[in-house]
Amino acid sequence: MASTEGAQRPLGHEEGRPNPFSSGSSKARVLGISSGKGGVGKSSITVNLAVALAAAGHSVGILDADVYGFSVPAMLGAQDAPEMSEGRVVPPEAYGVRVISMGFFVPDDQPVIWRGPMLHKALEQFLTDVDWGDIGFLLIDMPPGTGDVALSMSQYLPASEMYVVTTPQPAARRVAQRSAYMARKLNLPLRGVIENMSWYSTPDGQRYEIFGSGGGLQLAEELGVPLLGQIPLVPALREGGDQGRPVMVSDPGSEVGKAFAAVAEAIVGLGRSRVMREELKIR
Ligand SMILES: Nc1ncnc2c1ncn2[C@@H]1O[C@H](COP(=O)(O)OP(=O)(O)OP(=O)(O)O)[C@@H](O)[C@H]1O
Ligand SMILES: [Mg+2]
Repeated sequence: MASTEGAQRPLGHEEGRPNPFSSGSSKARVLGISSGKGGVGKSSITVNLAVALAAAGHSVGILDADVYGFSVPAMLGAQDAPEMSEGRVVPPEAYGVRVISMGFFVPDDQPVIWRGPMLHKALEQFLTDVDWGDIGFLLIDMPPGTGDVALSMSQYLPASEMYVVTTPQPAARRVAQRSAYMARKLNLPLRGVIENMSWYSTPDGQRYEIFGSGGGLQLAEELGVPLLGQIPLVPALREGGDQGRPVMVSDPGSEVGKAFAAVAEAIVGLGRSRVMREELKIR
């Protein structure tokens, strides 16, 4: 049985395995990709951002926390069941990204029908029973809404940084905002906004703002965090997700590929969140 580091109490598992991400000495940055609203592109952004971070030389993992509606394995083309090594789950790797998802453990045509406590337990096992290795970034693809998963994250991953995805229209912004308020309530640092489906560019360079404009910037200003990027609406992004070959893999030099690379760079540039308050900094 492994021992816990420092004075940190093992958050959980009955075998007493420590959760490597709950310790203050964990070197991994945990990025929660959230939105109160469904279908705004959380999973697509998680997957492409992870590939962008890996391409920039970081060691990256994705924890698909959408236990009921998992989509990451299909989007990453990682369909094989994980292997076991010394009693731990080895996460499959695709395009330099390690991934764990409920999708590896239930047949495709079977729904996951669980109550909250089981969901909580599954998320815990994804942290404690999976050999994540020495990763620098763990991205959490969160389900829509502001429910159980965020609560579990605040308990198991107290150092996780939250990022909010929104589309540009006011209605989406208001719903996305709820996940930001939830993060604040749970004391999870909110680090930035990512706007998705910002515009569609025609081959001759004309931009159409199909879902309106300005929602991402407005939300970021309201929340007092940076707008980290605007991701255009591109058919290749959807196709990449459907085919299990993210656009960040197939066409990193495209407009959308560059947008993801820029968001990845901005997140790296933000650095780890400081728990210390501004006025306590030694200058
Ligand atoms: N920028 C984009 N351009 C084109 N298609 C996109 C874009 N972003 C997302 N999509 C498509 O929109 C659909 C929803 O995206 P996705 O599954 O990533 O959203 P989600 O927020 O994770 O949804 P859910 O709330 O169900 O988890 C997918 O078919 C995806 O391919
Ligand atoms: Mg999703």
